[in-house]
Amino acid sequence: MCAQLLSTRPYKGTRDFYPADMALRNWFFGKIRRALELASFEEYNGPMLESLDIYIAKSGEEIANEQTYNFTDRGGRRLAVRPEMTPTVARLVAGRINDLNFPLKWFSIPNLYRYENPQRGRLREHWQVNVDIFGCDSYEADLEVISTAISLLKVFNADSSMFKVHINNRRFFNDVIAAIAGTDAEGSRKVSKVIDRKNKIPREVYEKDLKTLGLDEDKIAKIDALYSMSVTDAAALCPESKGAQELLDLFSALRELGLEEYCVFDFGIIRGLDYYTGTVFEVLDEAPENNRAMFGGGRYDNLVGLFVKNTNVSGVGFGFGDVTLENFLVTHNLIPDIYAEGVKVLVTKFDDVPYSEYTNIVSRLRAADIKSSVYIGSKKFGKQIDYAVKGNYSHVVIMGTSELEAGVLKIKDLRTREEHTVEADKLEAFFA
Ligand code: HAM
Repeated sequence: MCAQLLSTRPYKGTRDFYPADMALRNWFFGKIRRALELASFEEYNGPMLESLDIYIAKSGEEIANEQTYNFTDRGGRRLAVRPEMTPTVARLVAGRINDLNFPLKWFSIPNLYRYENPQRGRLREHWQVNVDIFGCDSYEADLEVISTAISLLKVFNADSSMFKVHINNRRFFNDVIAAIAGTDAEGSRKVSKVIDRKNKIPREVYEKDLKTLGLDEDKIAKIDALYSMSVTDAAALCPESKGAQELLDLFSALRELGLEEYCVFDFGIIRGLDYYTGTVFEVLDEAPENNRAMFGGGRYDNLVGLFVKNTNVSGVGFGFGDVTLENFLVTHNLIPDIYAEGVKVLVTKFDDVPYSEYTNIVSRLRAADIKSSVYIGSKKFGKQIDYAVKGNYSHVVIMGTSELEAGVLKIKDLRTREEHTVEADKLEAFFA
């Protein structure tokens, strides 16, 4: 009896990256990494496994209780596969707090796991660009983070018709809700949870949940009015609020930098994570089919304090996932024919030429930083060319006995179909 075959499908909500998928991911993360390094962000990383406690402490109920993959190890420690990077980076900063050169500008591109219901834009494993600045309390760090977020989409030639940065402020939110609804801090937190779900639940449920928290129709209408207000009108409702001033400062700086066209004030942006204390923002794709946030971030004043006593190092940053980015790039037609880029050479071979002649060519090409390979196997010449075309090689180098004797090589450009005969010692110069 035959044993039952195992499935070739990856675990639900995760993806296999075949070479073509990997090439695409490396292409977009390569551009992002270069842009971040140019802006002087430094790359860090941490382990996939963390103590579950660091998520319970601050990430919020949904992430810690419903979305982490967690287990107890053989030593009885409660661990989680990281669902997000921010608690990890706060731990890293806290661990060397006396040695680091603040303000820090750090980034990382970890893979994260969340027990989600897989859907468009949300999977169980994703890669997330994390960009954070630590140790700067002024709005300038918020501005730097938001302008970096915009610049990361501009490297793909995205424009302001394709995405918008939706900005709010948690301090302002709490002050306005307290003024409208008369709630205390815990009451405002509960209202924020309902508002955070606003676009995911029917209007009746939204109103019912707010009424359960003691808000009548008049108060609900006042909150409704805020969703379409300009930042200046909204801030005028609570002029004493520190958060209102932070919003006004941030928007005026964005205006000065010419970034206003990319940004909108949006009172509906709360962010599900509990640690944010000031500015909060999400980048939304303007295409209606891509309705899940592409970036989410904000300012968190007290995460580092979870790990070291009496410390006051604030952070501000965002996370930006590969799933939503890929949907964005495909929808807006921003992926060039990446496989047509760059030189990659296949050295075809004939059995009557010593094999070492071919490996020498490849060694010389690689020494000149040119991607290359000798054809592996003993297929006929035509099949070797088919292999080169399918394998996205840009050129083939051909050397039979007659070329070897004459000291020349034939180089065929597979994209233009042109063929050149070059002296063997001019090989590197041909590709320079
Ligand atoms: P987040 O809003 O949970 O924030 O995630 C940020 C971004 O990661 C989302 O906007 C989305 O692009 C992507 N993302 C999140 N979950 C999934 C998923 N299940 N599948 C695909 N993509 C996903 C955070 O994680 C914060 N720690 C970000 C941060 C960094 N805040 C400050 N610094």
